[in-house]
Amino acid sequence: MELLKDMTLEEKVGQLVQVPGSCYEEGFIITGPANFLNFKEEDLKYAGSVLSVIGAKKLKGIQKRFMENHPHHIPLIFMADIINGYKTIFPIPLGQGAMFDPALSKKGAQIASYESALAGIALVFSPMVDLVRDARWGRVMESTGEDPYLNSVYAKAIVEGYQGEKGSDDHPDLTKKGNLAACVKHFAAYGGATAGRDYNTVELSERTLRDEYLPSYRAAVDAGSESVMTSFNLLNRIPASGNMHIMRDILRKEWGFNGVLISDWAAIGELVNHRIARNEKEAAYLAINAGVDIDMCTRCYAGNLKALVEEGRVEESLVDESVLRVLTLKNRLGLFEDPFKDADEEEEKTFILCEENRREAKKAAEESFVLLKNAENILPLRDTAETAFIGPFVDSGLINGAWSIFAGDEDATTIEKALKNAGFDLKTAPGCVLSADFPLVGMGGKTRYVEPDKKRDKKLIKEAVELAERSGTVVLTLGEINIMSGEASSRGMLDIPSMQKKLLKKVSEVNKNIISVIFTGRPLDLRKISALSKAVLVVWQPGSEGGSAIVDVLTGKTSPSGKLPMSFPYCVGQVPVFYNEPETGRRYTPGDENKFLSKYIDIPNDPLYPFGFGLSYSEFEISEVTLDKTGIRAGSGDVIRAEVSVKNRGNTEAAEVVQMYIRDEFGSTARPVRELKGFERISLKPGEEGKVAFEIREEMLAFTGSDDIFRAEPGDFTVFIGNSSKTQNRAAFVLSPA
Ligand code: BGC
Repeated sequence: MELLKDMTLEEKVGQLVQVPGSCYEEGFIITGPANFLNFKEEDLKYAGSVLSVIGAKKLKGIQKRFMENHPHHIPLIFMADIINGYKTIFPIPLGQGAMFDPALSKKGAQIASYESALAGIALVFSPMVDLVRDARWGRVMESTGEDPYLNSVYAKAIVEGYQGEKGSDDHPDLTKKGNLAACVKHFAAYGGATAGRDYNTVELSERTLRDEYLPSYRAAVDAGSESVMTSFNLLNRIPASGNMHIMRDILRKEWGFNGVLISDWAAIGELVNHRIARNEKEAAYLAINAGVDIDMCTRCYAGNLKALVEEGRVEESLVDESVLRVLTLKNRLGLFEDPFKDADEEEEKTFILCEENRREAKKAAEESFVLLKNAENILPLRDTAETAFIGPFVDSGLINGAWSIFAGDEDATTIEKALKNAGFDLKTAPGCVLSADFPLVGMGGKTRYVEPDKKRDKKLIKEAVELAERSGTVVLTLGEINIMSGEASSRGMLDIPSMQKKLLKKVSEVNKNIISVIFTGRPLDLRKISALSKAVLVVWQPGSEGGSAIVDVLTGKTSPSGKLPMSFPYCVGQVPVFYNEPETGRRYTPGDENKFLSKYIDIPNDPLYPFGFGLSYSEFEISEVTLDKTGIRAGSGDVIRAEVSVKNRGNTEAAEVVQMYIRDEFGSTARPVRELKGFERISLKPGEEGKVAFEIREEMLAFTGSDDIFRAEPGDFTVFIGNSSKTQNRAAFVLSPA
C-alpha cells in the first residue's frame, strides 16, 4: 500500500501492461497476432509483466536490467504458456482427461511448475478448463473434455499442482520453491464457439452457462487460482474482456475472486474489432471498468488509461485496485525479496527432463490411452518378431501436442526409439509423410508443409505394403500431426490426412491383422479406420515418453485403462455430440420407425464411441448397485452410499474406471439424460475383487430451476454405476421435500 501511494500514475498503469518477451530479448515465441504490438520505450520501462521468454540465465538478465531502470525497482512477473509441461511433456490435457486420474495430472502440474520455476517463470497460463463439445474446435486438445464434473475435478487438481494447496490464510505458499501462480482460462465459455471455429461468437443461455460451462472455472477459483484469463469470444453479444456481468457480477462478487484478471492476447484491443469500442481508448475504458487488471499485448492501457483518469472518466481508485492486485501477487510470489524466484541455471540442467519426471510422464501416457476396439483379442501383441510398425508416427517426435512450445521434438521418445531400447528387431516403414494436404502453421509461426510428390508417395506406400505383406500383424500409426489441433486450428473435417487414408487402404488389402494406433488432438471420425482394423488404440499426443508407453501397452506390459473424455462422433455432421444432452420431446430409440422423431435420416444419433468408453486387456464384472438407503430429505445433510463390487475376470492385471452418473427424472427445467457425478480408478489382479463406493449428496443434484434458483428439486432420481456413459446398471432413490 505504501509503495502504491508513492507511485506515479504512469508507473501504476505500467503494472497493468504485459509485453511480449521479444521487447527485451530475442528468441521469443509468438502466440498471437502482432497487429496491436507497438510498444514504446517508456512502456517497456514501466511494464508489470512479460510473457513467453524462458530460461534462468536469460530471465535473470532481463529482470536485473529492468529493475535497475525502474523508478521503484519493482520486479516483472514472467509468465508463460506451460500447458502439459515445460520440457517433460505429459499427454495433452484431453489425454489427461482420458486418464480419469486427476491426482496424476496434479503430479504433472507439480513437475511442470518446478521445471518452469527453475527456468525463471512465476506464473503459468494454465489450466485451460473450457467445456468442449465441438470436435472441430482445435482447442479441444487443451481441455479435459465435455463434462462439467470431470473438468472441475481436474481444474482443482491442476491448480493445486502448480500452486500448492491453500493454507490457513486461504492462499497457497507461492514462495515455496517450485510453486507458481496458476491462471485459469479462458473465462468464460470460450469452448462454446459457434460452428467450432476459433475465436467465433458464443451464444448460451444463462442457465447453460451457469450449470455446464462455469463450474470448472469456479472449481479453479475455489482451489485458489491466483489469476484468471478473459476469453476472446463474444458471450451473448458482449465480449468477455469487457463484460461487466461475468467479470464483476459473477467472478468478483458472486465467487469472491480477488486475484489478477488478465486479458487474453490483444483481447482488449479486439473490443474495437468487435465494434463494441470505437477506438483503443474506449476499449481500455470498457475493460478497466469490467475489472480486467492486465492488458496482454496491446497498448490500450499503456496509451490511454492515464488520459482516462486525467479526464475524470476513470477514477484513479479503479486503477489503484488493479495495481494493488498485481503488486499483491508479486508479493505473494516473494518477488520483492527475490526477484529471480527459483531461477537456477545449475538445477535447470539436472532436474528438467530427469528420469523421474520422464517416468511420471510415461505413466500418464499409458493411463491416457483408450482402447476402442480389440477384435479377437489381437492385443496385446503375441509375437513382436512377426509385427511390422508402419506409418508416419513410428519415428516422429511430433507427439508433444501443439502447445508444447518450449519442448524439443528430439526429446520425445519415439516408437522406433522405444522399440530399439526394448531390444526388438525393427521392422518399420513410414508409409507416407505426416501430412501434405494443406499448409500448417505452428505456434512459433513455423510452417510445416510437405509438398505433394507422387514419386515419393508411391515409393513410401510400396515399401510399406511389401513389409505388411510379409508380416503377421501390422501396427499402423495414423492420425493428426500435432499442429492440426490447438489454437487457430479448427477443422471442417474430422479425418486423417489423405495419404494416410491411402496407406490404410493399401495395407488392409494385403494384411487383415491391423492394429491402428491413433495420434490425435481431437475426436476424429474413426469409422473407416475402425472397420479396417482389428484393434484401435487412441494415444492422443502422448508427450515425452509417448513411444515407450505405446510399446509397453501394445506388448501387454501395461493394460490400457483410459476412457473417452469426449464423445467420438459417427461423422462430422453429428458435431457437437455429447452424452449429457437434455431430453427432447421426441426421443428416438434405434429401431423405432416413427418418422417424427429427433433423428437423422442418414446417420445414427449415437456417437461411434461414447463418453466414458474404453476397453482393457481384462474383463471386469460390475455388480448391481446397492444403496444404503433409497431416499434422503432435502436440507437434512443426509448422504446415500452407493456401492458396487468390481471383479477382474480376465487373466491380466488391469485398471477399470468405475463411473457414477445420476439422472434427475423430472425437473422444472429439462434435465440432462444423465450426468457424471463421481468416478474411481481401481486396479485389480486377475480374479481379484474390490468395492467402489460413492456418496450421493443433495448438492450434487442441484441445477438452475425455472425460478433461476440453483438448488436440488425434490423428486425421483436414478443412479447408474458402470464403465461408460452407456451403462444401464442402475438403482432408484428419492429426494423428499424438507
Ligand atoms: C491464447 C492463450 C495464451 C495466450 C498467451 C493466446 O492466444 O488464447 O491461451 O495463454 O495467447 O500466449
